[in-house]
Amino acid sequence: MICEDKEVLNYMIEEARIYTKDGKVADYIPALKEADSSVLSLAIYDGGKTCAAVGNVEETFTLQSISKVLSLALALMDQGVEEVFSKVGMEPTGDPFNSIIKLETNKPNKPLNPMINAGALAVTSMIAGTTTEEKLGRLLSFIHELTGNPKISYDEHVANSELATAHLNRSLAYFMKQHGVFDDDVEDLLDLYTKQCAIEVSCQDLAKIGYVIANEGRHVESHRPIIPLHISRILKTFMVTCGMYNASGEFAIRVGIPAKSGVSGGIMASIPHGLGIGIYGPALDDKGNSIAGMKLLEALSSRYDLSIF
Ligand code: DON
Repeated sequence: MICEDKEVLNYMIEEARIYTKDGKVADYIPALKEADSSVLSLAIYDGGKTCAAVGNVEETFTLQSISKVLSLALALMDQGVEEVFSKVGMEPTGDPFNSIIKLETNKPNKPLNPMINAGALAVTSMIAGTTTEEKLGRLLSFIHELTGNPKISYDEHVANSELATAHLNRSLAYFMKQHGVFDDDVEDLLDLYTKQCAIEVSCQDLAKIGYVIANEGRHVESHRPIIPLHISRILKTFMVTCGMYNASGEFAIRVGIPAKSGVSGGIMASIPHGLGIGIYGPALDDKGNSIAGMKLLEALSSRYDLSIF
C-alpha cells in the first residue's frame, strides 16, 4: 500500500525537491513572498487511521485557489445546480487564472468556469448568509467537517495583504456587478473572497479533504455524506478540466488525477474511490502551479499507476 511505503515516498520527495530551484514563490500577494521556496511536503490519506506525511510536514499554508473547490461545493448545496450554473459556466478557458479577456469577448454576464478568479468571485457571492462573518463561518465549519480539524481558521496577515493589493480581482468584480452577475457590495465580496483564499491548512488537512471528494463526499470516519454525490462528481470534473488552469490539459496527460492548485503552492488531488493527496511546495512554475508538486504527482502517478484515464 502506498501509505506504508514511507521510504519510497521520502525518496520521491527528495527527488522532486530538486525542481524547486526552477520555480519562484508568488509575489503579487506580498505576504506569499515570505515563503521558503525549498519547502516540499506530501500527505496521502487512504481512509485509514493515519495520514502518511513526508517532507516539511510541519508547514502550514493558505488554500488560495484550492478554496474555489470548497466555495463551489457550498454554493451548489446552498443554491442548487441550476441557479449556480445560470451565473457561471462549465468550460475551461485556456487563459491564466486572473485573465479578464473572456468576460469581455465571450459573455460579460457569465464567467466561463468557477476555477478562474472571475468565476470564483461569482461563486463566493452565492454562499448563503447575511454577513461576511456568517458566510465565512459556514465555509470554515464545512472545512472542519471535511478535515475533522476544528482548529482551521484563516491567516489574517495573508488576507489583509491580498485585500490591499487585489486590484485586478476588484476590477473583475466591478465588471461583473455592472453586468448583473451579482449585486453584492464589491468591497464586502473581496473581503470574504480574500479571507476564503487565506484559510490555513497543512498538507494532511488537504489530503483529507481530497479523500472526501474522491470518495463520493463521505465523511472520513463516519462515512456519512457531507457533500452529495452529484456535487462531488461536479467538483472532480472541474478539477480535471480546469484545476490546473491553462496547464490542465498537459497535467491530465502526464498525471491523470483530478487536482486543484493554489498560488501558495498547495495542490489537492482526489483519486476517485481511492486516495486523497495534499502537497505543499511554494516554488511555482510560470502558470502558478507548484513546480515540484507537479513533478511529484507525475512520479507518484507513474509509480503507483494512479491515472484515471
Ligand atoms: O485571487 C487570487 O489571485 C488568489 N487569491 C488565488 C489565485 C490562485 O491561487 C491561482 N492558483 N494557482
